[in-house]
Amino acid sequence: MSEPLRVGVIGVGAVAQVHLQAYRELPTIKVVAAADPQAERLAEVASSHSLRAYASAEAMLAAEKLDIACVLTPTAAHEEATVACARAGVNVLCEKPLSISIDACERMIAACREHGVLLGYGASYRFLPAVIEARRLIQSGALGDVLLMREFAVGGTGPAHRGTLGPHHFPLGGPGGSGMGLIDHGVHLIDTFSWLIDSPIRSVLGRGNIAGQTQRPEFMAMEFANGAIGHLLYEDGTFPTELPAEGHFSWGAGWDVSGFVEPGNWQSQPGCIHVHGTAGALRVLHYGNHIYWTTRHGTRQLPVPGPAMPGNFTMQMAAFAEAVRTGQPAPVPGEIGLAACRALLSVYANA
Ligand SMILES: NC(=O)c1ccc[n+]([C@@H]2O[C@H](COP(=O)([O-])OP(=O)(O)OC[C@H]3O[C@@H](n4cnc5c(N)ncnc54)[C@H](O)[C@@H]3O)[C@@H](O)[C@H]2O)c1
Repeated sequence: MSEPLRVGVIGVGAVAQVHLQAYRELPTIKVVAAADPQAERLAEVASSHSLRAYASAEAMLAAEKLDIACVLTPTAAHEEATVACARAGVNVLCEKPLSISIDACERMIAACREHGVLLGYGASYRFLPAVIEARRLIQSGALGDVLLMREFAVGGTGPAHRGTLGPHHFPLGGPGGSGMGLIDHGVHLIDTFSWLIDSPIRSVLGRGNIAGQTQRPEFMAMEFANGAIGHLLYEDGTFPTELPAEGHFSWGAGWDVSGFVEPGNWQSQPGCIHVHGTAGALRVLHYGNHIYWTTRHGTRQLPVPGPAMPGNFTMQMAAFAEAVRTGQPAPVPGEIGLAACRALLSVYANA
C-alpha cells in the first residue's frame, strides 16, 4: 500500500473534534499538523492527537508538506484559508457553508482550479448511511414520484437561550443566526434534498436571519426542477411541542435543536428528513441511523447499512483522499457548495 496522505487541519474547534475522531479509522491518511490562533485550544488538541501545532494556516502550509488541508474554521474564514492552501498547492476539503457570498465561493473555486488542486465541499449529510439508503430507495422507484421533502428544527427553552453564532462565524449585517438555523443547518438540507431526488432547485421562497439583528423564525420553500417541493423551518428560541415519550435513541452522534448529542442517547427531537411520494413515504433519522418506510401495506423499519456519525466524516475523507490519490475529481466538488450557497442566498435576495 502507498504511504498515507499527509493531512493538516485548519481550525481545531467543535467540528474538528469530530473530524479528528473520524479520521483515526482511516489507514489511507495521517493527520500530521493543526493550525489555530487560539493557543490553549490548539495545544490541547495537538497533544491529544499527536500533531505539530502552528499559530496560523500560513505557517503550517510553509512548514509542512501536506497533501490535504481540512478547512474547519468558522465560515467567515473559509475563503482566506482555502485560497492560502490553493496557493501552497494543497488540496482542500472545506466545511459547509462553502462561504457566505457567491463571489467568495467563486474565488475559492477559481483559486483551486488555477493552482491545480482539488476543492472538496464538506457535504457531510451525503455520507450519512440513512441518507444514502433513502436515496437508493428513492432512485429505485420504491416511493413512486417524490412530491415533498421536509425537515423542521423548532424548539429550545426561550429566546434567551438561542444558539446564535457570533460575528466570527457570520459577520454582522449579513446572513447569520443559530447553529440549528437556515444558513448553518439548512445549507446541509438544501443540498441533501436536491441530491436525494437528483433534481436541481428551480425556485425558492423564504426568510433567513441577519447576524446582529433580532432573530425570528426562518423558513425556506424550494421547488425542484422535477416539480417536487422541499420545506425547511427553523426556530430555536421557543419551546417544543413534543410530549415526554416522543423521541428516539440515536445510534449516531449529531446536532439537534438542543445541541450536540452523543451516540446512544435519547433524543426528544431527533433530526429527521420526511420524504413523501406517490407510492410511499420515508422518515429518515439521519443522525439516529434509522429509516421507517410507510406504504399502503403499513410501516416498517429498514436496516441501515453503515456506521452512524462520525462515520460519515470518515467516509467523506476516504472518498476525498481516494480522489486525491488517483487524480479523479473531488467526490463532492466546490461547485456543489456554490449551488447550495446560491440557493440559500437567493432567499435573502428575494426577501
Ligand atoms: N458538517 C457538519 O455537520 C458541521 C458541524 C458543525 C460545524 N460545521 C462547520 O465547521 C466550521 C467550524 O465550526 P465549529 O463549530 O467547529 O466552530 P468553532 O468556533 O467551534 O471552531 C472554529 C475554530 O477555528 C479557529 N479559527 C478561526 N479562524 C481561523 C483561521 N484563520 N485559521 C485557523 N483557525 C482559525 C478558531 O480559533 C476555532 O478554534 C463551520 O464552517 C461550521 O459550519 C460543520
